[in-house]
Amino acid sequence: MAPYVALYRKFRPLIFNDVVGQEQITKILKHQIQNNQIGHAYLFCGGRGTGKTSTAKIFSRAVNCLSPVDGEPCNECSVCKGILSSSVTDIMEIDAASNNGVDNIRSIKENVIYAPTVAKYKVYIIDEVHMLSGSAFNALLKTLEEPPENVIFILATTEPHKIPITILSRCQRFEFKRISKPNIVKRLSFICGENQIAFQENALSVIAQAADGALRDAISLLDKIISSGVTEITEHSVRTLLGIEESSTTSAMLQAILSSRLSDALSIISSVTDSGKDIKYFIWEIVNFARDVLIYQVTKDDSLINNYASLEAIQQMQNADSKKLERIISDLSELENQIKASSFPNILLESSVIRLMADLNAPVKTYPQAAPVASAPISQPSQPTPVPAERKAPPPPPPSSESWKEVIQHLKTTGKMSLYATLAGTTANVTDTGVTIYFKQAFGKNMIERSENMKTLRESILSICGKDLTVKCVVESTEEKSSLDELENTLLNSGIHVNID
Ligand SMILES: Nc1ncnc2c1ncn2[C@@H]1O[C@H](COP(=O)(O)OP(=O)(O)OP(=O)(O)O)[C@@H](O)[C@H]1O
Ligand SMILES: [Mg+2]
Ligand SMILES: [Zn+2]
Repeated sequence: MAPYVALYRKFRPLIFNDVVGQEQITKILKHQIQNNQIGHAYLFCGGRGTGKTSTAKIFSRAVNCLSPVDGEPCNECSVCKGILSSSVTDIMEIDAASNNGVDNIRSIKENVIYAPTVAKYKVYIIDEVHMLSGSAFNALLKTLEEPPENVIFILATTEPHKIPITILSRCQRFEFKRISKPNIVKRLSFICGENQIAFQENALSVIAQAADGALRDAISLLDKIISSGVTEITEHSVRTLLGIEESSTTSAMLQAILSSRLSDALSIISSVTDSGKDIKYFIWEIVNFARDVLIYQVTKDDSLINNYASLEAIQQMQNADSKKLERIISDLSELENQIKASSFPNILLESSVIRLMADLNAPVKTYPQAAPVASAPISQPSQPTPVPAERKAPPPPPPSSESWKEVIQHLKTTGKMSLYATLAGTTANVTDTGVTIYFKQAFGKNMIERSENMKTLRESILSICGKDLTVKCVVESTEEKSSLDELENTLLNSGIHVNID
């Protein structure tokens, strides 16, 4: 029997066009090859499992291929085949994690001066380059400063901030993006098809969600599920294997919070905890569910829903108070960020839900936002406390200006629906130099401040205002913060014991 090859290896893309979700990068690389404008040093950075090593390998063949087609390697000629079978020594892959010393780099330095044997270019792929020692970086720098003819360096890393600026400045830098959920689902369904494995579309969505933008992780999860011997990949089988909750539990939880049924909410949390499910993922699902309800309320467009299988439950909740939903999203997303380091995620969730319900029912006052209620006695002291700075002294919201309304409309007409949904109803101050947007909740601010959203928004502003204006996001709140005493009371009444100093 042939040895088992992990699915993610078996499905490593072999040409640029098979690299999913990095079209901007592969387009430039192909163009350089077609026009013979090949650089000496490249830096591929970005999240893990997004195609950096795969692209470097494709590039090493494409530059050396005897009959490239549109900048792609043919993978058939003697050179391509030699590289694919690792018999051509002109292409070297070095894992800097295990070869991080200056001697390793020195041996590269001594080696680069010799002309390639078979290939046109010698290619050095240095993976995890951020692991090099200081002196190894220095040695590498010397080589990059006087690059020999016909040598190409491709440095790959998930942590570009650890690379000295002197090295960075000598490389063409490419940022690999996290792979979007639809792209992951597409690739997974392709792989299932190739392996003749039946699947439910929604099952693949759950895998894609769990993989968080890393395609390799998604393929490995798929591998794990297939090797457990299921005949069809169902949403249920995926959830069981990944230890994540059924979506009906998530919607029940959201219902309980919205209608202030504290004991129901607490008993759901305890059953999720007892069954050993991942609390962090559960929180993420509640947030995502609330987001779907909110988006559906505003747009009535079911194609924008993430939890498509739960559309009915989402429709049933469409009369929910949108202010409450926003509050749930903002508080629980902050909790999700903070919970990572905690050994008691269930207790943090319980106390957050108690506080959230108290807040939702007492709209006049708000507690300091998302301070992890029980964090004082329970969590590690190193955990950073959230900075509620923007909520402190907000300027009064100015009347929304006409051009801002036009920008919001522009987002809608150009199909940027989730940005539209986030910004609909906000006010903004538009001046000659910049736009200040006023949000009711930190959630909206956090959404817009993500770099990809900010970029889209600025493009819309540019088309409406004719100028690339800077964008500032502010959370407005005129409410007084309540005292910690009240917070403690809420918790004591709920039966959870905490010490708040
Ligand atoms: N963009 C992509 N397109 C197609 N497959 C991909 C992509 N990214 C990752 N994969 C899959 O994941 C596997 C690993 O990808 P690769 O080694 O290129 O990732 P990487 O970015 O180098 O990750 P790391 O930072 O962990 O080294 C590939 O063999 C392939 O199956
Ligand atoms: Mg890699
Ligand atoms: Zn070839």
